[in-house]
Amino acid sequence: MRTIAHMSDLHFGRVRTEIVQALLADVAALSPTLVVISGDLTQRASRAQYEAAEAFLARMPVPWVAVPGNHDIPTLNPITRFTRPLSRFRRHVSRDAQPFWMDEEIAVCGINTARSWVWDWSHGRVSWSQMESVREAMRDVPPDRFRIVFAHHPFLPPPTAPGTRLVGRAVPALKALEEAGVEMLLAGHLHRAYTGDIMSHHTHVARSILVAQASTATSTRLRSEPNAYNLITIDGPSVIFEVRSWEGASFMPGLVTRFRRDGSRWIRVETDPGPGIAAG
Ligand SMILES: [Fe+2]
Ligand SMILES: [Fe+2]
Repeated sequence: MRTIAHMSDLHFGRVRTEIVQALLADVAALSPTLVVISGDLTQRASRAQYEAAEAFLARMPVPWVAVPGNHDIPTLNPITRFTRPLSRFRRHVSRDAQPFWMDEEIAVCGINTARSWVWDWSHGRVSWSQMESVREAMRDVPPDRFRIVFAHHPFLPPPTAPGTRLVGRAVPALKALEEAGVEMLLAGHLHRAYTGDIMSHHTHVARSILVAQASTATSTRLRSEPNAYNLITIDGPSVIFEVRSWEGASFMPGLVTRFRRDGSRWIRVETDPGPGIAAG
């Protein structure tokens, strides 16, 4: 069994300090196998904001991996933006913007979808070489490992907003993930928490890939949802997503969604509204 704390859109520069402290305390209490951070660690990619993110990561009590989001590329300095867009991310967060992490049960691969050159840069894109990188990274992974990919921009729209713009080249990228045997895809950017099967929206995908989108963990940039992160339990043929929501004094267990593998499909078996969140 493995547990992953999936958090996103921290947005240092626009955070509530008490929520940052509570988030670290919650992670310490739950002690997940790995923390996966799917981008937007800062608000405007300033040095001070990156230093705050770095201080937060230094206090993380378990291993973590992170990819950049669109907010992690400097916007105010055009020289930095176009010539060294990830220099601060590499200095303060991680030298590797496409990390790979593996243990005896799971393999986790990050994709950097943040872009500075394309005109609609905020929506992000997967490059052809990144698709090949994922295939390559997963090629040597033992077949019994549960394969997870994470990125900042979404591949699956919210169930209530199917027209939501997805990451650029989502369709060929999903083909690559399918070929690489990826079972789960984690992302953020929309500041909304939901889970589902990629096949519910992408009819060309022939195999189930579970998707979890995370809300913003710590920032004031809320989209009609509380601050939250996902606690994901992977246990053989069972995957449980629990939204842990900020309830004013601490993070509390919220919506729980369970999936069970049935052949090559992941079937949603039960949804529990949890003690802290009203159903519907
Ligand atoms: Fe964000
Ligand atoms: Fe974003």
